[in-house]
Amino acid sequence: MPFVATILTLYPEMFPGPLGISLAGRGLREGLWSMEAVQIRDFATDRHRSVDDTPAGGGAGMVMRADVIAAALDSVVPGQGPARPILAMTPRGKPLTQDRVRALADGPGAVILCGRFEGIDERLFEARDIEQVSIGDYILSGGEMAALTLLDACIRLIPGVMGAPSSGMDESFETGLLEYPQYTRPVEWEGRTIPEVLRSGDHAKIEAWRRARAESDTRLRRPDLWERHEGARVQPPSGAR
Ligand code: ADE
Repeated sequence: MPFVATILTLYPEMFPGPLGISLAGRGLREGLWSMEAVQIRDFATDRHRSVDDTPAGGGAGMVMRADVIAAALDSVVPGQGPARPILAMTPRGKPLTQDRVRALADGPGAVILCGRFEGIDERLFEARDIEQVSIGDYILSGGEMAALTLLDACIRLIPGVMGAPSSGMDESFETGLLEYPQYTRPVEWEGRTIPEVLRSGDHAKIEAWRRARAESDTRLRRPDLWERHEGARVQPPSGAR
């Protein structure tokens, strides 16, 4: 069963957008994944077709209405097979990880809600089973770009989408380390040469060099990942006190 994405948005014309080109686009045309963008405004009930209102308690901006979004969500017909998770893209969500991406890519797809304005009426999240997802600690102008990012990360893992299956980068997050740096010809460029070891043909030495660079780069650039990696390494076996 292919991966099916249903995106609820005020800007359906943003989809598939960049996912319509390159490998994701070819996968879409070949039916390896499919998508449908639903216009939230079609579920507005008043004569102004309003989807938002001013924040309770005052403050800047507008808040998306729970009733309108719930009507849009409830209109999504469940497919055959296992139910798809409902995700809401918001900077208040749980940070997206490669593990979550892989689990989604292995599943039947997702229903993705894209917020705009100052946020969504919190009662929606109390009344429906919705996973709030953030793609990072910065604020986008809406959830659409975040949804495209999440979908891109999932789609490249769908069997048949990428030419050669998994070229290293995924394993890098599996080991909990950043990937080692890459080089290619020309051997000399602007007076800089490719590290000698990579041209040695000694695979054990190359492996050791890559591992050392993965570790030192992670330690320097991502102390958070390094700490978790080291913590996991020195953990006693489960059950040990
Ligand atoms: N919407 C706005 N900013 C976002 C973010 N960082 N992640 C997910 N959705 C968002």
